[in-house]
Amino acid sequence: MKIGVLTSGGDSPGMNAAIRAVVRSATSRGIEVYGIYDGYRGLVENNMIELTRKSVSDMILKGGTMLGSARLPEFKEESVQLKAVDVCHQRGIKGLVVIGGDGTFKGAAALSNLGINCIALPGTIDNDIASTDYTIGFDTALNTIVENVDKLRDTSSSHHRCSVIQVMGNRCGDLALYAALSTGAEIVITKETGFDEAEMLERLRYYENTKKKNHAIVILSEKITDAEFLAQKISENTGFSGRATVLGHIQRGGSPTPFDRILATRMGDKAVERIAAGHRSECICIRDNKIVSIDIDEALSMTNPSRKELFELHDRLI
Ligand code: F6P
Repeated sequence: MKIGVLTSGGDSPGMNAAIRAVVRSATSRGIEVYGIYDGYRGLVENNMIELTRKSVSDMILKGGTMLGSARLPEFKEESVQLKAVDVCHQRGIKGLVVIGGDGTFKGAAALSNLGINCIALPGTIDNDIASTDYTIGFDTALNTIVENVDKLRDTSSSHHRCSVIQVMGNRCGDLALYAALSTGAEIVITKETGFDEAEMLERLRYYENTKKKNHAIVILSEKITDAEFLAQKISENTGFSGRATVLGHIQRGGSPTPFDRILATRMGDKAVERIAAGHRSECICIRDNKIVSIDIDEALSMTNPSRKELFELHDRLI
């Protein structure tokens, strides 16, 4: 049996650990593995290489993805998907393990319907795949954010400043919320909390005047409002001097944490087990610390869980 493995969409720390697990789990079962470059683009363009146990040496600790990643919007078109199917037939590839976010999952479901069995692993820092408690890369990105917020807190305290720190997450507030809980940030703004500028300024004045705080941290989830603009408003309307930091792509890099390495390893192994047993159009999830697989369409139809209790906990303790 021959299978392919690819990484697609935004990269995330732990993708290499997942590739390593897929390669080693497959080869130990006598399955040949092709590493496909640059996501679905490499598949369509027949750009791949056979991977052995040795090819993935040292990969467990490396950030990024050794196969490269890309977003290929054209992959929504059936004519493009059929090119990928042709390549699989030419190469004798019977199944694919794809690692990425929801766009990657959609591609895998489409290919499965066209006869190429696909198993998807959730690889994204955003933690926005509702079927799994954690995605590969979320924990490492969270650690990067926390390390940086802690540093910003030092300088904010020294200068009586309010730091507005914008974090990634696409439309999901988990990175922002978990970072706020980990750092004791005064305010967290996500899609779930909504954004009310007047209320935020009022709260900052309360922290300053009543609670006598000498700094404040605002964690802002991306795609809600402009961090620089917010910092300026804070300077104009509170006693704090506002400063904005957009953490950006630094959140996507770095060596994966042990949590992400273990998650990627368990998920990669499970994907090979499912593909070897002839399953198709499934994604691998972690739920209550158990690695399970569910249908991709079912996973895509799920909505992200409410984090109401965690938001309330955060507010209670500030
Ligand atoms: O999905 C991962 C992610 O990093 C999001 O958090 C962010 O909105 C987006 O990708 C950035 O995409 P790009 O790397 O294409 O700028």
